[in-house]
Amino acid sequence: MKKINIKEAKFNPFTLLSDDWGLITVCSGDQENAMTISWGGFGHLWNQDVLYLFVRPQRHTYAMLDESVVAVTFLEPGHRKALGYLGSASGASEDKISQCGLHAIRDEKGLYFEESAFLFTGEILYRESLKEDAFLDPSLVKTFYEKGDFSELIVFSVKEVHVK
Ligand SMILES: Cc1cc2nc3c(=O)[nH]c(=O)nc-3n(C[C@H](O)[C@H](O)[C@H](O)COP(=O)(O)O)c2cc1C
Repeated sequence: MKKINIKEAKFNPFTLLSDDWGLITVCSGDQENAMTISWGGFGHLWNQDVLYLFVRPQRHTYAMLDESVVAVTFLEPGHRKALGYLGSASGASEDKISQCGLHAIRDEKGLYFEESAFLFTGEILYRESLKEDAFLDPSLVKTFYEKGDFSELIVFSVKEVHVK
C-alpha cells in the first residue's frame, strides 16, 4: 500500500461507511481479529484528523482494544461475503482472520488485507459509553439499545492513510 497525505484521500465518507462497510482490526501478540463496522464518521477534533467509531461492549474486538494495535480498513469492492462473515461471527469463538477468505497482512502498520483499498492507522484518544439519559430522542434507545448494550464512542486519531 502507498502512504498518502490525508488531504489527498478521495472517497465519500458517508457511503464508505454506510454502503461499503469498513473493518476495525486489532492485533496483539498472537491474537488478531477484525469486525465489520458501518456506524461512525470521519472528522476533525482537537486539531487532529479523527475517526469516530461506535463499538458495542459484547464484541470480542472491544475486549481487545486496550492491548492491541488498532487500525481501520476498507476493502476493495467485491468482498461482501467476507464483510458479512466478519460482521456476524465472533473472534471469541473462532479464528476469523484465517477463515474470512481474505489475505491478511500484519506489519508495523497493524493488521489489514491484500484486499484493502484504504488503511487508516493511528491511536485511540478517547472512549466513552453512550448514556441513556443523554439521548434527546428516546426512541433511539428503544430501537437500538433495548438490551442496555450502549455502544462505546471511540475517537481514533488518524496518523497515516495508506491506499492500494
Ligand atoms: C454491516 C455491518 C455493520 C456493523 N457495524 C457495527 C458497528 O459499527 N459497531 C458494532 O459494535 N458492531 C457492528 N456490527 C456488528 C459486528 O461486526 C459483529 O457483531 C461482529 O461479529 C463482532 O465481531 P467480534 O465479536 O469478533 O468483535 C456490524 C455488522 C455488520 C454486518
